[in-house]
Amino acid sequence: MYYITTAIDYTNALPHIGHAYEKVLADVLARWHRMKGEEVYFLTGVDQHGQKVQQTAEKLGLTPQEHVNNLTAKFKELWERLNISNDGWAETTDPRHKACVQKILANLKDKGELYKKSYKGFYSLRQEQFLTEKEQREDGTFDEEWGEVIELEEENWYFRLSAHAEWLRNFVEKSDSFVLPAFRKAELLNAIDFDSDLCISRPKNRLSWGIELPFDPDFVTYVWFDALINYISFAGYLAEPDSGLPEFEKLWPASCEVIGKDILVPAHGVYWPAMLHAMGFSDEQMPSLLVHGWWNINGNKMSKSLGNVVNPVTLVDMFGPEAVRYYLVRDITTGKDANYDIERLVMLYNTELANDLGNLCNRSINMTRRYCDSVLPVSDYDDEASQALRSSMAETVAKFASYMDDNLTSDALAALNAQVSACNAYIEQQQPWQLAKDENAMPKLACVLRHLLECCAQVGYLIACVLPDASARIISQLNATEIFAEKTPADITWGMLPAMHVINEPAPVFPRILSDEEKEKIAAKAAKNAAKQQKQK
Ligand code: ME8
Ligand code: MG
Repeated sequence: MYYITTAIDYTNALPHIGHAYEKVLADVLARWHRMKGEEVYFLTGVDQHGQKVQQTAEKLGLTPQEHVNNLTAKFKELWERLNISNDGWAETTDPRHKACVQKILANLKDKGELYKKSYKGFYSLRQEQFLTEKEQREDGTFDEEWGEVIELEEENWYFRLSAHAEWLRNFVEKSDSFVLPAFRKAELLNAIDFDSDLCISRPKNRLSWGIELPFDPDFVTYVWFDALINYISFAGYLAEPDSGLPEFEKLWPASCEVIGKDILVPAHGVYWPAMLHAMGFSDEQMPSLLVHGWWNINGNKMSKSLGNVVNPVTLVDMFGPEAVRYYLVRDITTGKDANYDIERLVMLYNTELANDLGNLCNRSINMTRRYCDSVLPVSDYDDEASQALRSSMAETVAKFASYMDDNLTSDALAALNAQVSACNAYIEQQQPWQLAKDENAMPKLACVLRHLLECCAQVGYLIACVLPDASARIISQLNATEIFAEKTPADITWGMLPAMHVINEPAPVFPRILSDEEKEKIAAKAAKNAAKQQKQK
C-alpha cells in the first residue's frame, strides 16, 4: 500500500500556487504509484481550526464554520479543476476527526503524557504561540513576522515532548527514510535540542474555535496538535466500524507525507513523531516526510502584504489545468526553491509540449496516415539511427521510472523531453517525406514510422502521471488505449504496437499558447480576409 498525504491547508485565505504545487506534486506521485500497479490511498484536505480563522471570521461578520465552509469550497473546486485524484478528503471540523483527536487526548492523559501548569510569557497573536528569549531581539522587541506580541499568563495543558527527545534524536539519526531529501536531516537534528514541553491547549476565553479537551471543557486543542492527527484520523485510526473511513492497518504508516520546508521544524519533524511515539507507535510505524521547497516571486516570499500572491484559478483559466500541472512539477527540483515566472510557464509549454511532443505525435501520426493509410507497416529494415533510438527509448523508460521513484519529477520530465527531441532529430535525419517518394525505400519508411509511433506511445503512456488528459488523447489517437490499459512501466518493452496496427485520426494535443502580439496578428489577418471576402461579394 502506498499511502500518500499532503499538508492540510489553512482555510483562512484563498489557495495560492504554493498550495497548488504541493497538491499537484502529491497527485503526480500518487498517479505514478498507481501506474506501477500499487494500491494507493491519497489523502489531502484542509486545516479549519485556529485563532486566525476565528479572527478573520469575526471581521467578516461570519461564524467560523461559515467562513471555513466558504474557503473549503474554493480549495475543493481548485483541486477538481487541477485533476487532483485524491481518494480521501480531510476536514478538521469533521466529527469523525474530532472524535479521534479526543480519544487520543484522553489516552495520552491516562498514560501520564499530559499535565496542567501555569505559564507567563510573550505571546504572538499571529503565530499563535508563546515566544522564548531566542525570538526576542536585544531591545526586547520581536521580529515583524510574529505580528502583535502581548504578555500573557495562563494555565494550560502540556504534552511531555521533552520525554521523547532522546528517542527522537536516535530515531532521526539512524533513519534514512524519515526525512527526504536527505539534506533536511541535518536541519532537523539541529532542532532536537529542546527540553521544553509542548503547550497543547488554548483557554476557551481566548480561543473557542477548536476541539474541546475531553477532560477539561474550559480548553480547546492547539491547532497543530489537532491538524497533525488528520494523517491518522482520516486513515481510520480509532474509528467507529461504520465511519466510512479506510482500514487503518492497511494504510499506516504513510509512505509519503508531502509538506513544505517551513513546517518540517518543529511541527512534522518534532511534534508529530513525538506524538506518535507517545501514542505507542514503533520506529517502524513512523511515516516518511517528503519536504518540498518554496515557490518565490522575483526572489521574494509570496505574501499578502507584498501583494504578489499568484491565484492558481486565474492560471488555470488562462492556460488550462495541464499547462499549470506541467509547469509546477517541471520548473522546480523537488526539495529546492524555485522562482515562479509566468513567462517560463508559457515557454516550457510552448517548447517542450507544443513544439516538441505535440509536433512529434502530430507529424508521426499524419505521416502514417498519408504514406501508409494509417496502418503501422512492418519491415526487416534496420539501421544505426533506429537502433540508437530504440536503446535510448529503453533508457528513457528506466530513467523516468528511477527519477519518479526518487520523487524527482523535473528530472523525469527532462528525460522524457530529451527522448522527444531525439525523435524529432531522427525525423529530420531520416526524412520520411523523401522516402515516401521512392518505391524502393518503403522498407526503410516502414522502419522509421514504426520507431516514431512506438516512441510516441511509450512517451504518451509515461506522461500520464503528470498530464492525464493529454496522455489519454495521445494514446487514443494511436488507438492504443486497450494495449496500455493494464500495463505497468515494467511491462514497457519495444514493440507495444503490434504489426499492422491501425491508428486513429490525429488532432493537436497541445495548441500553442499565443502571446498578445501573436493573437493581434491573427485577429488582424482574419479581419483582412473578412474584408477581402466582403469586397469580392
Ligand atoms: O502550514 N511554495 O498550512 P498553509 C511552496 N495548516 N509551498 C508553499 C508555499 C510556497 N510559496 N506557501 C505555503 C499550514 N506552502 C498548516 C499545515 S499540516 C498537518 C498543517 C505549503 O496553508 C506549506 O509549506 O500555511 C504547507 O506545506 C502547505 O503549503 C500548506 O500551508
Ligand atoms: Mg503557512
